[in-house]
Amino acid sequence: MSLPLTTGAVPDALSVWPASAGHAPGGDLSVASVPLAEAADRFGTPLYVLDEDDFRGRCRTYTAAFPEADVVYAAKAFLCRAVATWVRAEGLGLDVCSAGELELAVATGFPPDRIVMHGNAKTPEDLRTAVRLGVGRIVIDNSAEIARLATLVARHDRQQVLLRVVPGVVAGAHRSVRTGTDDQKFGVSVADGSAQHAVERILGQPRLELVGLHCHIGSQVTEIRPYLVALRRLVGLLARIRDQHGVVLPQLDLGGGHAVAYRPGDRALDITALAARVRAELADGCRRSGLPLPRLTVEPGRAIAGPAAVAVYRVLAVKHTGGRVLVAVDGGMSDNPRPALYGVRYAPALVGRASAAAPTRVTVVGRYCEAGDVLAEDVTLPGDVRPGDLLAVPVAGAYQLSMASSYTMVGRPPVIAVANGRARLLIRRESAADLRLRDVGV
Ligand code: LLP
Repeated sequence: MSLPLTTGAVPDALSVWPASAGHAPGGDLSVASVPLAEAADRFGTPLYVLDEDDFRGRCRTYTAAFPEADVVYAAKAFLCRAVATWVRAEGLGLDVCSAGELELAVATGFPPDRIVMHGNAKTPEDLRTAVRLGVGRIVIDNSAEIARLATLVARHDRQQVLLRVVPGVVAGAHRSVRTGTDDQKFGVSVADGSAQHAVERILGQPRLELVGLHCHIGSQVTEIRPYLVALRRLVGLLARIRDQHGVVLPQLDLGGGHAVAYRPGDRALDITALAARVRAELADGCRRSGLPLPRLTVEPGRAIAGPAAVAVYRVLAVKHTGGRVLVAVDGGMSDNPRPALYGVRYAPALVGRASAAAPTRVTVVGRYCEAGDVLAEDVTLPGDVRPGDLLAVPVAGAYQLSMASSYTMVGRPPVIAVANGRARLLIRRESAADLRLRDVGV
């Protein structure tokens, strides 16, 4: 039975932990009433613990906030068979960006017509698989893709497509995840006329049915305003397409990118407020342009998967050096490259035991062979943190395991689902044998 968090070794700020997090006997922390130390003993570390009810609850937050829209979970944040099953059961669609994600989802029974396929450089294999499996919508990114896709569609068929346009909006937490401006690789520009040109070419392909426009302005976007600016520009383009071609496109896809808090006090995007403002802006823009309301799609990834999981590591060494305390754990940049890639700050906590020691400033580093392998720079942990301890890092569910590598031949960690006091293995740990299997030369 878990109790609400108070103070002590475990964090007193609940905000960034799964809603089910609480105290467990011995000073441990539990998620969905599963003590993390028990899970670490049973499944080993590093370990990813995914709270099923939290994940599904976040799906429901979206369907409640956007009842009139298609909510499509962005698989790239994290996908496995269980996740595809939960997403489907909660009534969401799925955004995939490779044949691999697509085939996994369809193998679980995910209805292909609820799947949207993305990608700035879809391979022939991606496109063939999408057409073969009957994906609902394919998002065309560039003009080279138009004829390439059309030739894959059978003569009597029509593939529904959206066109990804660049609305000219700067948003997102880091240069690498800002996708709303003309100087990046995704989509066709509204500003320079390429979008209108691509529309014309798609309309000229009898095997493609252009159903709408798509944009994704960036990721970890903390403000509502950039979405409204993008929406206004997309509605403007819908009106120009109607005027030029006499075609009223029935859909708009606003992408994802909704920010979550990684540390207490970080700013997150309020989904309900976003939905209300988007709805009002869309109604207003369409009324002024004399357009019917298009059906909206949103594509959240991080805001569903991120806060639902916790990563658990074992401390292997504590080193006092250069005036700093370095706490080295058994994972690092290969299971979570985000601090190294985007400078993201996390808030790890000591779990598994109580500590009355005064808090001290430490840097949590990984086990990989480079100095940049830092998981959490300058954070507070109890001063008696020592080898053998467990550290848990919240908000570990998005873009960690999906971007994980097996750097230095260390296998990727397992994922367990926790629900109602029970833990079950979703993805097993990658073994040395798994890695050796691919090595088929001499
Ligand atoms: N739709 C499209 C077309 C996307 O490209 C993405 C993310 C999403 C939806 C979902 O965005 P989300 O709601 O998860 O922010 N690896 C980076 C994030 C890359 C995002 C890529 N595209 C990170 O760890 O922050």
